[in-house]
Amino acid sequence: MRTPIIAGNWKLNKTISEAVTLTTALKALIADDTDVGVIVAPPFTALSAVSDAIAGSNIHLAAQDVYWEDSGAFTGEISAPMLKDAGCDYVIIGHSERRQYFGETNDSVNQKVKAALAYNLKPIICVGEQLEEREVGQTEAVIESHITGGVAGLSAADLSSCVIAYEPVWAIGTGKTATPAQAQEVHNFIRGLLTKAYSAEVASQICIQYGGSVKPENAAELMAQPDVDGALVGGASLEAESFAKIVLSFNHQLDSVINVKARVDG
Ligand code: PGA
Repeated sequence: MRTPIIAGNWKLNKTISEAVTLTTALKALIADDTDVGVIVAPPFTALSAVSDAIAGSNIHLAAQDVYWEDSGAFTGEISAPMLKDAGCDYVIIGHSERRQYFGETNDSVNQKVKAALAYNLKPIICVGEQLEEREVGQTEAVIESHITGGVAGLSAADLSSCVIAYEPVWAIGTGKTATPAQAQEVHNFIRGLLTKAYSAEVASQICIQYGGSVKPENAAELMAQPDVDGALVGGASLEAESFAKIVLSFNHQLDSVINVKARVDG
């Protein structure tokens, strides 16, 4: 029912020419695989070039952040209409690295989500607990505050344009993935929160991605969980082959995985 969405978050990586090379290689590997949504999120400087490179393909474009004002004296910021103009359909908002290093709060996340929606950009809202929070049993409280803060004031129609990404901070870039059971537990909790705040019908339609050290080797078992609807991939999205393998594991087609393996291996 829910179409899986796999997004590659390139973070602070790739020049314009490197980004185009990666996109071109990826396009060739996943061209026939249209049962899943595929998104790449290059740095701002490469958005426009990648937009040209994905034209006519099944790949969509996301930015990694957005500011809530449209224009004005806000040095260094990028607005939703600018992202739209550069070819974006999605924008990642509230990534844990933004929360940790750049002062992002639930309130700023919420303002950015509303700004994105006003310009028809689909927000990918990131939520996730830190290791210390998990260890003292605060996972659900943290997730609840990220979700309720992030979607505050959104109508059901607005929410249905959003993607949620559950990314336990302790699993990001560490090689430590949440177990499929740990991921499922939190994804199910998030769907429960959305059911309470909206309705079971609305909650059942929302794509909830898992993020944190997703690799070709663990993607299939994560995807097998009933509430895991895709992935937000960092490190493994920087190589076309590994990202394509993850995309195909979510495609629910074993023969496609074998096919891409054949394509990648030679
Ligand atoms: P990772 O990053 O796959 O390198 O752990 C995921 C993310 O931060 O979105």
